[in-house]
Amino acid sequence: MALFSSSTRSIPETGDVPRHIAIIMDGNGRWAKKRFLPRIAGHKRGVDALRHTVKACTELGVEYLTLFAFSSENWRRPAEEVTFLMQLFMLVLEHEISKLHNNNIRLKVIGDRSRFDAKLIDMIERAESVTQSNTGLTLTIAANYGGRWDLIQATHSMLAANPGRALTFQEADLEPYLSTSYAPEPDLFIRTGGEQRISNFLLWQLAYAELYFTDTLWPDFNTLALKRAIKSFQQRERRFGRTSEQLQKNA
Ligand code: IPE
Ligand code: IPE
Ligand code: MG
Repeated sequence: MALFSSSTRSIPETGDVPRHIAIIMDGNGRWAKKRFLPRIAGHKRGVDALRHTVKACTELGVEYLTLFAFSSENWRRPAEEVTFLMQLFMLVLEHEISKLHNNNIRLKVIGDRSRFDAKLIDMIERAESVTQSNTGLTLTIAANYGGRWDLIQATHSMLAANPGRALTFQEADLEPYLSTSYAPEPDLFIRTGGEQRISNFLLWQLAYAELYFTDTLWPDFNTLALKRAIKSFQQRERRFGRTSEQLQKNA
């Protein structure tokens, strides 16, 4: 026990707060079901949790927050749920954008927009352009996003720009074309709702994120739950392939 505590004491703290947090906001449907409400009631309450999380991240000094709102696989859901989610997305954009802007938040939306309505695409473009010069939190919403889609679109774009590279390109050649190229890789990944899987979220970018899973359903996620996740992150030793001894020598 003594050995354990002395070695944990010397673990370098990887910065107080993660620079980039990525979250799979899961459990809206189950939150509603527990209350005998329709699933869409869970999605509505999920927006409140989103608002609280954005505020908490701003206050804690997190620089990038990336939220999975709709996966490329979520089209498989009942049509009325998909329609509701798209409408909710538009409503949130419409209502929140001026608040985000007033709070110096830069909004980004990643994912394949080709299946979205023209109106939604237009709203996304406007929201991004209004907030593009803001210097506070960068809030990214992943909508119709899939990690595999991202890798394919990045490869296509990279090869279109560098046709001669097909057989020689390296990791660093691809990175500028990933949809998150403006952000560092996530330090902390959180998934609410109890499932322990990535569900085709940021496959490349999560290579060295610290993973944190909680049973808390997304509508119940709050500042305290976020702080718990950050605390767990702060107790991890990020070795990036090195040994613990190497890290301590360089500390
Ligand atoms: C996450 O909650 C929100 C979206 C995927 C849009 P779910 O809707 O997946 O909730 P559960 O997993 O059914 O509880
Ligand atoms: C992942 O949640 C996608 C989002 C939270 C947007 P799902 O609830 O769709 O994930 P699976 O299908 O259960 O893995
Ligand atoms: Mg789910």
